[in-house]
Amino acid sequence: NNHSSDSRGALIVLEGLDRCGKTSQSSRLLQYLEGLGHAVESWRFPDRTTSVGQMISSYLANKSHLDDHTIHLLFSANRWEKRSLMESKLKSGTTLIIDRYSYSGVAFSSAKGLDMKWCKSPEMGLLAPDLVLYLDISPEKAAERGGYGEERYEQLEFQKKVAQSYKMLSDASWKIIDATLPIEDVEKQLTETVLDCVATCRKGKPLLELWL
Ligand code: TYD
Repeated sequence: NNHSSDSRGALIVLEGLDRCGKTSQSSRLLQYLEGLGHAVESWRFPDRTTSVGQMISSYLANKSHLDDHTIHLLFSANRWEKRSLMESKLKSGTTLIIDRYSYSGVAFSSAKGLDMKWCKSPEMGLLAPDLVLYLDISPEKAAERGGYGEERYEQLEFQKKVAQSYKMLSDASWKIIDATLPIEDVEKQLTETVLDCVATCRKGKPLLELWL
């Protein structure tokens, strides 16, 4: 490829229930790709560092109450405020590994009973991931993992609904990984798929927008 300086990074998203292991896998992926000499960053949503992110954080900690639609739109706004940075990073060749994205937005809000189509609409026009990695674990098993914290959504009955919403959202392009396997086995499956995706993006796979 004689345009290698133009080659873009990959947008890789990790999704799953709370306690599925996304956070440790995203830091392992980061280290792995860095070790191979790739330009890579790991991000997460919600990004609690922005002012919108602080409103979200206080809501999640049960320190503020917000209407379900309102918090949904804040989660979406929190992705929109990072969109241009995301695009410039990708275009300059940096791969982004993102812990939660629009699918969390839709899965968690629709689990409250909000209409799924309504939930999807504010995500329209955000960058579409090149790869969605879903760390699959039953809500019961996830709940056993050292218990949930204090946050609003970390409750078994609610997580069961989130799991159903994810099922409705997923399509054949998602890579579903058994998150109950040993941590190294999960990592191995992730790294293989991710390397493939990074190579495809380098070769010029176009960067698209949601919803695909
Ligand atoms: P996260 O910070 O990943 O959780 P943790 O505290 O376990 O690190 O996400 C916080 C919660 O927010 C999580 O329960 C999922 C939920 N969420 C939404 O409801 N909508 C969204 O758009 C996103 C990104 C997360």
